[in-house]
Amino acid sequence: MQKYNYISISLDGAAGSGKSTTAQAICQKYKYIHVDTGLHYRALSLFFLNKNILPDLVPQYLLYDNVDLTSQLEEFSVKLFVDGIYYSKNELRNERMNKEVSYYARIPEVRSLLLKYQRGLVKYGFDLGFSGIIMDGRDIGSVVLPDANLKVFLHAEIDVRQGRRLSDGEHDSISKRDNIDSTRKVAPLMCPNGAISINTGILSVNEVVSLISKHISSLS
Ligand code: CDP
Repeated sequence: MQKYNYISISLDGAAGSGKSTTAQAICQKYKYIHVDTGLHYRALSLFFLNKNILPDLVPQYLLYDNVDLTSQLEEFSVKLFVDGIYYSKNELRNERMNKEVSYYARIPEVRSLLLKYQRGLVKYGFDLGFSGIIMDGRDIGSVVLPDANLKVFLHAEIDVRQGRRLSDGEHDSISKRDNIDSTRKVAPLMCPNGAISINTGILSVNEVVSLISKHISSLS
């Protein structure tokens, strides 16, 4: 993709590390498309919960039933539809989903379904005329886009991250989620090889954005 001057950036980090805020600021600045892969895992989890399918039964479901994943653009963000259903942010970002999502996200069959869809979004953004893509999540630089032009890993102390959730009014026991996400067998949360690692607990949003911007400038 680089030969077309289309930049791909992976942005990984644990809960509350600042991924969404950073991704949106960079996307606005550079006219990139934004993909929040956490919402993908939340949407699939809710899809299964609504069908009363517990995590253990998901592999069997996926063996026999096709789950259709389609996209729609809203400003510079990609909205995911699961079998034609769009779940709003309020439905996906709440205490119940914060509790459930990691149990669905650790299922290999769920991850391989989303992997194919997520990789396809690189071309989706390119075809829509964006000048690049930022995909945020846990395994983007390591698994989804291992050849991203720039890999960024955000981190901050647990009390800083927990404090951000509280000030957003979100109930979220992030240390439990971090633990499940970083110890699972497939595509665990990690700082990918070659990523720039940024402590967002000691920098402002503007400082984080300008640091990443310097790396983006050095790509061209
Ligand atoms: O916003 P926050 O960082 O708290 O969470 P999120 O990005 O919405 O991700 C929700 C959950 O989805 C994570 O805790 C992981 O279990 C899962 N996830 C994942 O496994 N891989 C990704 N690339 C993104 C999210």
